[in-house]
Amino acid sequence: MNITVIGTGYVGLVAACCLANSGHQIVAVENNMDKLGQLQKGVIPIYEEGLDGIFQKVTGDGRLSFTDNIKEALVNSTMVIIAVGTPSLGDGRVDLSQVNDVAKSIVTYVERPLTVVMKSTVPPGTGRLLCDRYFDKVGMNISYVFNPEFLREGKALYDWYNTDRIVIGGDQPGIAQQVMDIYSDIEAPKVCMDLTSAEMVKYASNAFLATKISFINEIANLCEKVGADIDIVATTVGMDQRIGQSFLQAGLGYGGSCFPKDTKALDYIALVNGYKFSLLKAVIEVNAGQRIIAVRKLMESLGCLTNKKIAVLGLAFKPNTDDIREAPAIDIIDHLISEGVQVRASDPLAIDNARKRFPNQVVEFIYDPYEACEGCEAVVLATEWEDYVKLNWADIKKRMVSPYVVLDGRNSLDRQLMQELGFIYRGIGRSYQYNK
Ligand code: UGA
Repeated sequence: MNITVIGTGYVGLVAACCLANSGHQIVAVENNMDKLGQLQKGVIPIYEEGLDGIFQKVTGDGRLSFTDNIKEALVNSTMVIIAVGTPSLGDGRVDLSQVNDVAKSIVTYVERPLTVVMKSTVPPGTGRLLCDRYFDKVGMNISYVFNPEFLREGKALYDWYNTDRIVIGGDQPGIAQQVMDIYSDIEAPKVCMDLTSAEMVKYASNAFLATKISFINEIANLCEKVGADIDIVATTVGMDQRIGQSFLQAGLGYGGSCFPKDTKALDYIALVNGYKFSLLKAVIEVNAGQRIIAVRKLMESLGCLTNKKIAVLGLAFKPNTDDIREAPAIDIIDHLISEGVQVRASDPLAIDNARKRFPNQVVEFIYDPYEACEGCEAVVLATEWEDYVKLNWADIKKRMVSPYVVLDGRNSLDRQLMQELGFIYRGIGRSYQYNK
């Protein structure tokens, strides 16, 4: 099928590459000229494990090309996938300006029957509004469906081919089948429903996962109060198949471009619909609190933080990505700077992005994690990069100065080893160590 994909962020670019890899002919539209230039030169502007191989293959075969011209791209397309940004406006509202602009362009340039597939995360009700405002108004036959993505950054390719379900929401009969056909090589349950329910599935999925994380973080905080151990508690709770092991990793809380934005958006959506979503409000509040608890732990171990040197290992919101959006490390660094700390930060991939966030040299960025810890009283492990977990911590300690605090924000280090090495070890909810 000839498909136009609009937007080449994490979702759009992965979708474009994978659909081209399945044999579809894809034109991807990008209006940021820097990004477009990179893509046309064969350079991927984001880091996503494994994507480069597929990208080079499908662009080399001529199955994926890039343009900034929607009109031109639509000429031969029977389907258009929208994957543009829907960022937060800060108060929970979702900025739909890019979605609206694209919808306007589509109805301006469409010259043949078209299926519009929305992959951007949009609040429940948006699809019906877009149809009323734009797509149902043109003489041409335009069908509209919502087809959410459940891809994780860093694991997007794996998730594309191994998804738990493909969701297609639409109010026009028969249209779901056409969209299902583009996924004919993916074995997964394909669930069809009305438009607004599909939009709700996306928010409810992210909000539920965020709820699991905040729940386990509260249990971890309580473990510290009562002298229990979150590792054994979470693992054993997760053995109940009704609960499951995933998303029970206590730590500094969730970050990224999705959970923080989508939980706030769902809270706002509830509010404007006259419903107080108390549970979700608590999830958001607990998540913000985890970062402050981390700073408080440093204060407890170091006393006044002013003029202390602290290394922050990990800037990305999780390992295997260069994305620092809403990353716990960034908030923690903000707090530390305001306390007068000299912050030395390291990350295998995210330093360039972090430099843009802290442009005034208030943070020293150092690629080598050993060097970053030089002369520091404390180290915060903010992202559980495998390379950091496997560091030679005896060597790290030699480079640090007393009192040798390690704040393990992801409960990823061997705490017994750390204590044997002479660190003051602080985890999240790891107050008791059970020796078998
Ligand atoms: C998330 C969802 O997992 C995807 O299904 C969804 O498609 C995507 O949002 C989206 O809406 O686009 P992502 O943001 O890439 O994917 O990251 P996750 O791997 O889900 O992690 C989110 C955050 O939760 C990270 O900061 C991670 O460190 C944290 N987390 C995760 C925990 O603190 N504990 C856990 O047990 C799991």
